[in-house]
Amino acid sequence: MIPLFSLRMNFAAMAVALLYLTTVEPWRVNSKTVNIKLVTNARETSALCLDGSLPGYHLDRGYGAGQNNWLLQFEGGGWCNDLTSCLERAQTRRGSSHYMSKLATFNGILSNNATLNPDFYNWNRVKLRYCDGASFTGNKVFNNGTTKLYFKGQKIWEAIIQDLLPQGLEKAQKALLSGCSAGGLATFHHCDNFTKYLPANASVKCMSDAGFFLDEKDISLNYTMRNFFKGVVTLQGAEQNLNSKCTKGFSSNAYLCFFPQYALKYISTPYFILNTAYDVFQFSNVLVTPSSDPQGKWNQCKHKLSTCTPAEIDTLQGFRLSMITVLKPFLDSKSGGMFINSCFAHCQSEMQETWFRANSPRINNKTIAKAVGDWYFGRSKTQEIDCAYPCDKTCHNMIP
Ligand SMILES: *[C@@H]1O[C@H](CO)[C@@H](O)[C@H](O)[C@H]1NC(C)=O
Ligand SMILES: *[C@@H]1O[C@H](CO)[C@@H](O)[C@H](O)[C@H]1NC(C)=O
Ligand SMILES: *[C@@H]1O[C@H](CO)[C@@H](O)[C@H](O)[C@H]1NC(C)=O
Ligand SMILES: *[C@@H]1O[C@H](CO)[C@@H](O)[C@H](O)[C@H]1NC(C)=O
Ligand SMILES: *[C@@H]1O[C@H](CO)[C@@H](O)[C@H](O)[C@H]1NC(C)=O
Ligand SMILES: *[C@@H]1O[C@H](CO)[C@@H](O)[C@H](O)[C@H]1NC(C)=O
Repeated sequence: MIPLFSLRMNFAAMAVALLYLTTVEPWRVNSKTVNIKLVTNARETSALCLDGSLPGYHLDRGYGAGQNNWLLQFEGGGWCNDLTSCLERAQTRRGSSHYMSKLATFNGILSNNATLNPDFYNWNRVKLRYCDGASFTGNKVFNNGTTKLYFKGQKIWEAIIQDLLPQGLEKAQKALLSGCSAGGLATFHHCDNFTKYLPANASVKCMSDAGFFLDEKDISLNYTMRNFFKGVVTLQGAEQNLNSKCTKGFSSNAYLCFFPQYALKYISTPYFILNTAYDVFQFSNVLVTPSSDPQGKWNQCKHKLSTCTPAEIDTLQGFRLSMITVLKPFLDSKSGGMFINSCFAHCQSEMQETWFRANSPRINNKTIAKAVGDWYFGRSKTQEIDCAYPCDKTCHNMIP
């Protein structure tokens, strides 16, 4: 399973890069750490992590004008698409709360500091830990007598919501469901359901960060990502939890509704799509997958953009155009916002330096925090699409 291997490899590499960025930056001194809460009632519905441990979340209470507002953020971290990869994941923090850090650092959109997060700092902010391997959509148990795996992401979502409702979520006046990467993908599958738990007069919106995974062929014209997602959805019994209007349209290929580009038009809640057009995760796992480049011809380009050949840059521009093309219909939606910048990054709302700082990425001089805030509060229409690489000088690229 080469694609799977690469997904894991790349996340490991990215984790190192992110760790580096977060440890050298002085602002980190002020960031808040928040304790985990395990959801003990989850056992009643078998809403358990892959290994059967309890799921959890981190909640930092809102205050002042934000005390009735709620930001929920799905944690990301890839997927598992077969028994082998899920068994392996079950022994890590991405599949078991036994291995999770008990403290989470709240940065970027989760920060409680008004200077660093002007629109959401005083909201109730929740990080939902990811331990099911299918973007919170599975509902199945594998048990062959010797091995047991819980594919219960959908139930984990419901159990966490049930735990939060009596803590004030049921009286929310404003709410935003967000998430990054696999967590960004989860927002598409739970957005409309989220609104149903909240008061009818609440303002509820959703945002995906780096979760707009494209149904694109790789450079060898193979649908690597499509096959990978098919494995995830099938193994975990997720199809029943995808948007039913979407799955009806696809009938025997219902798993395709796991891709946001097909599910999006059936979502009625106002949406914001934050993504780079050259998402580095998609670069290596959707477009230039290891199986599509067995000789590693792209290796240099993947590590240093200035070494990319004109043909390679063309291929990357083609990927950007595909993304912009599938987002075209969304541009017509009045309530939709977007920020599609041209950086080589992945997840820009969780890190302070990409979310909101003097030198953060901008389109038309607007930071991501400003763009999301303007859209959420209806201060201005925010549908920003950047010019193509290399014109943007404000990027925080993960590939130099
Ligand atoms: C908020 O962030 C600013 C900018 O980094 C910093 O100067 C200030 O001390 C922080 N405030 C708190 C309460 O941590
Ligand atoms: C159960 O499944 C696991 C994982 O695929 C496998 O290693 C094991 O041999 C299976 N056990 C039985 C009794 O089939
Ligand atoms: C929604 O209705 C409740 C009950 O009538 C009221 O207390 C609350 O202020 C309203 N919220 C908003 C956002 O209008
Ligand atoms: C949310 O979705 C789940 C699964 O489809 C469903 O059981 C639940 O009733 C929904 N919640 C609300 C409030 O509609
Ligand atoms: C396309 O994908 C299939 C199945 O994953 C694989 O067997 C095949 O080798 C791939 N072809 C190329 C050219 O990468
Ligand atoms: C860009 O925005 C900043 C405030 O964030 C402002 O100080 C600056 O003048 C703006 N630059 C331009 C060219 O509009």
